[in-house]
Amino acid sequence: MSDIDIATVRRDTPGCHDVVHLNNAGSSLPPGVVVDTVLNYIQQESLIGGYELADQRVEDLAAVYRSVAGVIGASEDEIALMDSATRAWDMAFYSMRFSYGDRILTTTSEYAANFIAYLQVAKRTGARIEVVPDTPTGEIDVVALEAMIDDRVKLISINHMPTNGGLVNPAAEVGEIARRAGITYLLDACQSVGQMPIDVDEIGCDLLSATSRKFLRGPRGVGFLYVRDTMIEDLEPISLDLHAAMWVAADHYVVRRDAKRFETWESSPALRLGLGAACHYATKVGLDAIWNRIASLAAILRTGLAVVPGVTVHDKGRVQGGIVTFGVAGHSAREVKDALATRNINVSISSASSARIDMEARGLEEIVRASVHYFNTEAELDTAIGAVARM
Ligand SMILES: Cc1ncc(COP(=O)(O)O)c(C=O)c1O
Repeated sequence: MSDIDIATVRRDTPGCHDVVHLNNAGSSLPPGVVVDTVLNYIQQESLIGGYELADQRVEDLAAVYRSVAGVIGASEDEIALMDSATRAWDMAFYSMRFSYGDRILTTTSEYAANFIAYLQVAKRTGARIEVVPDTPTGEIDVVALEAMIDDRVKLISINHMPTNGGLVNPAAEVGEIARRAGITYLLDACQSVGQMPIDVDEIGCDLLSATSRKFLRGPRGVGFLYVRDTMIEDLEPISLDLHAAMWVAADHYVVRRDAKRFETWESSPALRLGLGAACHYATKVGLDAIWNRIASLAAILRTGLAVVPGVTVHDKGRVQGGIVTFGVAGHSAREVKDALATRNINVSISSASSARIDMEARGLEEIVRASVHYFNTEAELDTAIGAVARM
């Protein structure tokens, strides 16, 4: 089933011996090399000084941009390192200028933070938010999307994979439409980076946001924004500091020409280096192999859960990734999560407020979210399915 040496990747992952971790869509278990990178750096800072160490490690810190860019087929100048995927996404979205009547096209499964931002901008400017219908299998309907395009559409903004299910949206088909129409395309790839091979040129997005801690298996508290080089100079960040811009005269500043114009001066070098180590590790394991194994493991989990009496699997999508969502008759999602936790099985809960348009349309208040990674084993899935069956 896999080109991945499972024994090796599990040996590299200290946490996987103590817990069945099916919360990789929340925050994955990092490989030891990521943990060591972060801890060693922080320890060094305490010994020689934060600024002094950063000076010594300038080259290593610059290399993080190359590592991140490599994971999505971008170039290093197109990457801004941020403290979360949401901050990355916000920097892109809020830097755009919307006016009354401008249209923002999005998808039913859009993430809450993004939708709240649309609502705020709509309230401030009179821009309109329009949700593109789904196909019968649940992904954004690209035919419907194309029919909605006109010269008032200012932005197409969707998620690649939603927070609340296994669905994979046809990001590249959406990119083709955006390109043909000359419309800016923002892709929330928070759940897909690290899970599958991504190439920003194949997808055709102008802006992409992602995090370190989920399928990339990096540390928490760091994420990144990709901005296509041809867009960088046209998109003046909503806020600037002395790293994003240079104060060149008492009454004048000049904004940087690379994607770092979206960053702030202060950051955590330790976390950034941890993200770099995580990108290296993912690349070494191989993103094609990672994707194949995640998709197979998730399919096994869905099939196994679906035959348990009382269990309903909720995932949509023609193509499905590593997020498996379900409910158990007679038990709340919280009860299922807590029961699994007593057996050292980690899952999480997706509630209606995290993806309200989709959840309300399906009449779902809360669902259990079990998300697999390549280091999980078939035996762990059996354990989880058995534990659900015994509820
Ligand atoms: C689809 C999606 N987008 C964005 C985010 C936000 O990521 P972060 O918490 O790093 O800001 C999440 C987090 O769960 C997510 O699932």
